[in-house]
Amino acid sequence: MHKVFVTHQLPGERIHALCQQSDMNVWLGPGLLPGAALRKELSDADGVVCLLTDRIDRALLEMLPKLRFISSMSVGVDHIDLTAATERGIPVGHTPGVLVETTADTTFALLMAASRRVVEADRFIRQGHWTPDNAWSPDFFVGKDIAGATLGIVGLGAIGTAVAQRASGFGMQVLGWNRSPRDVPDVTRVSLEDLLARSDFVVITVALSDDTRNLINADRIALMKSDAVLVNTARGGIVDEEALASALAGRRLLAAGIDVFSREPAAQDNPLLTLPNVVLTPHIGSATAATRRRMADMAVDNALAALSGERMPHCANASVYD
Ligand code: GLV
Ligand code: GLV
Repeated sequence: MHKVFVTHQLPGERIHALCQQSDMNVWLGPGLLPGAALRKELSDADGVVCLLTDRIDRALLEMLPKLRFISSMSVGVDHIDLTAATERGIPVGHTPGVLVETTADTTFALLMAASRRVVEADRFIRQGHWTPDNAWSPDFFVGKDIAGATLGIVGLGAIGTAVAQRASGFGMQVLGWNRSPRDVPDVTRVSLEDLLARSDFVVITVALSDDTRNLINADRIALMKSDAVLVNTARGGIVDEEALASALAGRRLLAAGIDVFSREPAAQDNPLLTLPNVVLTPHIGSATAATRRRMADMAVDNALAALSGERMPHCANASVYD
């Protein structure tokens, strides 16, 4: 039987099929599998089912001559060296589609929380500041209107499109930018510079790749309206965090909602952590029980296909099959 290593206990039911059809080992924790342990566990594995926290780079792949497939329980595969995997003919499975609506919901939750200061207001009450002297006033926690505003979506993939649908319900005007031309109903395609200059809200839903690393840098942040709100539920590496933090601190941006960080877990000295006008969440875009089950099942299905020598149903480097 082929040896398969699973880097974390997974939800869902399909994992039982993988257990029956392979010699399967699962990391049981505590916590995440450390890099050195990943190397050791994979040394004699035919395949791996991993998470977005497991870095599989070229150096690691070179130490794993036996490895025949990688299946990640994530839609993003920036933690895996796709080029190196493709050169080796190793298919890399991922989980598109099933997390689209959930992640679009998270994006909207951050957009609304940041623009209406929900977390700041919650802290205000809990910290005992809501007193008779400070009970209400016309400018009490004023924020920014969503209805009728212009939303710019950076990356018109499935998640960006689902965000656009939500925005239509809020009566927003929607602008979109994508690396390759893609028409989405009710979205006006514009250049990235135009999108940044015209949008009241900018959401990042593009995949991280060499083309998009640091896409939202200091120069591009400077194009944004000073009362704009930025939301990132894609990958931290797309936004220059230092530049974003300094724009937010200097009120050259109104607020931000950030689910993803250049380094995760975010360090306590990350400048975003000290700003009151930022809502932070720890990479929970796809975090609902049902979606996480669907993602796990899809990751297992990709592994099962690879084990039986078939095409993975959802492969991020399908050119390995050419
Ligand atoms: C989450 O960030 C994913 O890539 O699935
Ligand atoms: C607010 O609660 C209002 O009544 O205007």
